[in-house]
Amino acid sequence: MAGTKTGAAKASAEDTPIGPTGRPYQGFPTPPKLEGHGPARIIALCNQKGGVGKTTTTINLAAALAGYDRKVLAVDFDPQGALSAGLGIQPHDIPTVYDLLVDGKRDPHDAVVRSHVPNLDVIPANIDLSAAEVQLVNEVARETILSRVLRKLAPEYDVILIDCQPSLGLLTVNALTASHGVLIPLECEFFALRGVALLIETIDKVRDRLNPSIELDGLLATMYDPRTLHSREVLERVVEAFGDDVLETVIGRTVKFPDASVSGVPITEFAPEHAAAQAYLRLARELVARGAVA
Ligand SMILES: Nc1ncnc2c1ncn2[C@@H]1O[C@H](COP(=O)(O)OP(=O)(O)OP(=O)(O)O)[C@@H](O)[C@H]1O
Ligand SMILES: [Mg+2]
Repeated sequence: MAGTKTGAAKASAEDTPIGPTGRPYQGFPTPPKLEGHGPARIIALCNQKGGVGKTTTTINLAAALAGYDRKVLAVDFDPQGALSAGLGIQPHDIPTVYDLLVDGKRDPHDAVVRSHVPNLDVIPANIDLSAAEVQLVNEVARETILSRVLRKLAPEYDVILIDCQPSLGLLTVNALTASHGVLIPLECEFFALRGVALLIETIDKVRDRLNPSIELDGLLATMYDPRTLHSREVLERVVEAFGDDVLETVIGRTVKFPDASVSGVPITEFAPEHAAAQAYLRLARELVARGAVA
């Protein structure tokens, strides 16, 4: 593609730096202060491929937005409970998202936990959630159960992020049905695009049948390593396939993420000056600039 120079920033004719997606690099302004809070825009972080950075992105985007004074609720929607653990929450003997799904009368506030990050609340999950898929199959309007839960919490937040599990089953369909937008993290690896067509088809079906207003908020390239031709080629292919739907912010590959996860804190707190923390802050600013977040 003409002009698509991936890798380290390159200067164009006018000396505008070019970002890794081949578009002119923009810093995105600091989000303006909000007059008031809510109702939340709900965003599902979704990709049925495992290990692409869904949970890492949910945690760090949530923390970055919270740092910009947005009131954020992060919903752990994966029985692995990695989001809960990554924010230092041990979801044993406390109400979780599972309890809210199976008991429609329960007040969703029961399962909201305040994280140690100011402005960031969490609904945790644990292995119980793996039973929900089977248990909910015979429910009336089984696809809209999470939507009904989150509707009661949305007025109090500016953004709700749902960390989906790596599957396109009933839980993920619930997440898509509850959401205004979807963010698709993609690892810059061979086969990154494999499965994305099926994911987009699923989003289209949900739009047709359950949630007419759902939007694709963007594809986020993760684990990008500008030193490898391989990583640059994959990103180039992704941009060829999805154009401006690919977010300009690209998350680099770094061992800081596994380190931060083990410590149970977002990278924006673990290593605030690190390029990866800066990348998630930039992602937050880009999403505000695009109108995906207030
Ligand atoms: N930019 C990055 N650089 C290096 N490692 C990363 C990066 N982002 C995430 N990781 C690591 O990759 C692994 C998978 O990331 P993560 O758990 O966020 O993916 P996921 O899509 O949520 O996985 P799953 O599908 O299992 O839920 C984790 O060990 C995480 O620490
Ligand atoms: Mg995950």
